[in-house]
Amino acid sequence: MNPTISAALLLTVFQVAWGQKVTSLTACLVNQSLRLDCRHENTTALPIQYEFSVTRETKKHVIEGTLGVPEHSYRTRTNLTSKYNIKVLYLNGFTSKDEGTYTCELRLSGQPPTISNKNISVFRDKLVKCEGISLLAQNTSWLLLLLLSLPLLQAMDFISL
Ligand SMILES: *[C@@H]1O[C@H](CO)[C@@H](O)[C@H](O)[C@H]1NC(C)=O
Ligand SMILES: *[C@@H]1O[C@H](CO)[C@@H](O)[C@H](O)[C@H]1NC(C)=O
Ligand SMILES: *[C@@H]1O[C@H](CO)[C@@H](O)[C@H](O)[C@H]1NC(C)=O
Ligand SMILES: *[C@@H]1O[C@H](CO)[C@@H](O)[C@H](O)[C@H]1NC(C)=O
Ligand SMILES: *[C@@H]1O[C@H](CO)[C@@H](O)[C@H](O)[C@H]1NC(C)=O
Repeated sequence: MNPTISAALLLTVFQVAWGQKVTSLTACLVNQSLRLDCRHENTTALPIQYEFSVTRETKKHVIEGTLGVPEHSYRTRTNLTSKYNIKVLYLNGFTSKDEGTYTCELRLSGQPPTISNKNISVFRDKLVKCEGISLLAQNTSWLLLLLLSLPLLQAMDFISL
């Protein structure tokens, strides 16, 4: 195949694969606080909006963020640490009442806006202590890298056809 076309194809795949994505969302327990680690790519200088929320019995509750308005009952229980490619949210006094599906969502304004999110189901009995999470997160990121390169491999396959 024409190398120019191949290069163009690869480039397209890369742009799609390397958007402003949430790469992983993990949950763990530290001192009765739920800790959510939301890792994301940071490849743009544009302002990014984010939101942490939980869905219980099909109802969505905003916990923290710049997209929706956080519910009052959560404001006093949370704190957020943000580094350039990770947001760490603590929800203090975690009980079984807080079980549900937690979501981390990023939105990049533009035409059309880029939205990316990840969900994680949190059950009190199944939560791990935070000490053990870093290895797991590393293993996950390897998996993610593999997943991200998948479209690339597919594209190559396509080219060789
Ligand atoms: C958790 O509590 C223990 C004992 O109260 C304290 O030593 C430790 O610093 C706390 N960890 C965090 C992350 O707050
Ligand atoms: C957030 O809360 C957790 C748990 O209470 C605590 O360990 C951590 O130091 C707090 N972080 C900030 C930035 O206040
Ligand atoms: C992305 O990184 C820049 C600094 O390199 C930082 O100012 C910005 O807040 C980061 N974006 C997010 C969503 O953390
Ligand atoms: C996470 O859950 C929300 C609401 O149920 C859904 O709209 C979204 O597609 C889910 N995200 C992923 C990555 O599955
Ligand atoms: C991560 O992978 C390493 C080696 O591949 C393995 O020894 C370790 O148990 C894994 N960690 C977790 C938390 O799965």
